[in-house]
Amino acid sequence: MRFGSTVGGTRFPAAGSFGDASYRALLLQDCGSLVPEYALKWPSMQYGSARQGYDFSGADDVMSFARDNGKAVRGHTLLWLQHDGLPGWMSTYDFGSNPRAGAERLIIDHITRVVGRYGSQIRSWDVVNEAIDHNTGALIQTPLSRAMGSPEAVIDLAFRVARSVAPAGTQLVYNDFVSWEYGHTAHRSGALALLRGMRQRGVPIDALGLQSHLGIYWVDPSTGVVSREEGPWRAFLDSVAGLGLDFLITEFDVNDQALAADIGLRDAAVAEYTRAYLDLMFSYRQTREMLVWGMVDRYSWLQTYAPRPDKAAKRPNTHDDNYASKPMRDAIAKAFAATSIRAARPA
Ligand code: G3I
Repeated sequence: MRFGSTVGGTRFPAAGSFGDASYRALLLQDCGSLVPEYALKWPSMQYGSARQGYDFSGADDVMSFARDNGKAVRGHTLLWLQHDGLPGWMSTYDFGSNPRAGAERLIIDHITRVVGRYGSQIRSWDVVNEAIDHNTGALIQTPLSRAMGSPEAVIDLAFRVARSVAPAGTQLVYNDFVSWEYGHTAHRSGALALLRGMRQRGVPIDALGLQSHLGIYWVDPSTGVVSREEGPWRAFLDSVAGLGLDFLITEFDVNDQALAADIGLRDAAVAEYTRAYLDLMFSYRQTREMLVWGMVDRYSWLQTYAPRPDKAAKRPNTHDDNYASKPMRDAIAKAFAATSIRAARPA
């Protein structure tokens, strides 16, 4: 199995982790693959309120770094079907007298251009990211789905175009934050319905990307047990595996939201939660790759997302702000060591 991490920011000297030589050194030391945190997203390449040309400079910097250092790259993501996942100009875009054709042209042009630019350097793409409403399980409407008539039409086209323009064997992934925590029942049902529908429509897809942004949102004060639903989660995974899909852990981190402030206790609980999740996920031979969403706490998106009640900095990643490894990294290493060998896909 491959292990990798995201790398944030874009241009040298990037504001994010990509501009930090010590962070890059951790990547080179621990990772066989990397995924740009932002640089390959549509809004990163076509920012602003007007539809300008593409600016690939940030993505090119990350891709050059990966190539120069022999790291595999995951592409994230061709279509993020949430409002702020699409470029700003799309909310006021005129799809023309035949909106379906207008939207199809946008999608085909974007995917052809981006996948074509990096070719075989990217062997696994998050073709579509987060298309499901977490609360209802329904597919999210976007300017593209309104123009094409349905979210399914958008998703199916994206995967069919990706299959036709990507090098043979490129892994096509639907990526989502559906999880094992309480409150994901509707989300799990919606994800399964989407994947079953794609299979029934003959849409090319190879794997489900499980972002795995785990959260310790609730600890039972009497038992100290952290809330999670392993039974329903295994049932969901069994159903997805039954569709012939592989799994990737694409964005692993642990939000230590509900834990006491003591760093030793937090790190230990996060490591235990990590090990429990990975032992379950690695028990599926379909799980063939794991990436973390960052390797140093201070760069994590979680530092600004739903702050802890005590406002303490969160500790969601494998290394602390001094680049020292934490118990989470040990837990990941032990989970890898304890599981059966399986071929990473694609090779
Ligand atoms: O690079 C620009 C900079 O030029 C500009 O000055 C600045 C202010 O607008 O924005 C910078 O871009 C920011 C980018 O991160 C790079 O730092 C975007 O505004 C900001 O929205 C973007 O946030 C990222 C977010 O996805 C949205 O793309 C986070 O870093 C990233 O961690 C987060 O990652 C997502 C995954 O893609 C999907 N799964 C959930 C995960 C967490 O939300």
